[in-house]
Amino acid sequence: LLIVGEAPGATEDESGVPFVGDGGQLLMDMIAKAWPPDDEMTSLRRIGEDETYFRELRTYLDKFVFWTNAALCRPPENRNPTALELKSCRERLERTVYAVDPVLIIAAGKIPASILLGKTVQITEKHGTIYDIAVKSPVTGDPVRYPMLVILHPAYLLRQGDQNLVKSRKGVTYATIQDLREGLRLLDALHRDTYDRSFLER
Ligand code: URA
Repeated sequence: LLIVGEAPGATEDESGVPFVGDGGQLLMDMIAKAWPPDDEMTSLRRIGEDETYFRELRTYLDKFVFWTNAALCRPPENRNPTALELKSCRERLERTVYAVDPVLIIAAGKIPASILLGKTVQITEKHGTIYDIAVKSPVTGDPVRYPMLVILHPAYLLRQGDQNLVKSRKGVTYATIQDLREGLRLLDALHRDTYDRSFLER
């Protein structure tokens, strides 16, 4: 699974590791809630608390998730990366996709979704869609195709602040868990037996 975000935030910039701040924690917990095949919905963990849970979840996910961003440098004040910054980072992103060779890409937010699709994705309408995208092989120059699920950006979900509605199956955070469920179903269908699910099933 390859997860592509927008750009590092302050926590990611300090640690050099993508998706370790509040947005990253929310995304990891949404994946954990989306994956079990039964449809039972439990509350999300409190972000910034329960460090052991998030550390163990990350260690588990890191066995088969590669995390990156559309831009690798942190934009000052958390502004969106500029078109030039995204363009400068594009070849590196395509080479990362090619090198990781994921079963599924998850694009978190409009920016990585649009960069990888090659046209603007209206994320508020299109979240939950699985697109067929292509990157150029650095070896042959031929297109190499991948399925890409697009989801709302976790920072947007945190701003909406409806994480507490997940258990009652309402709100955009819950909708994102459902979007992830679709993508993870596809991942399961393609690669069911290649990962150990014990962390998710305990
Ligand atoms: N963390 C990242 O590294 N990227 C994002 O887009 C969000 C959180």
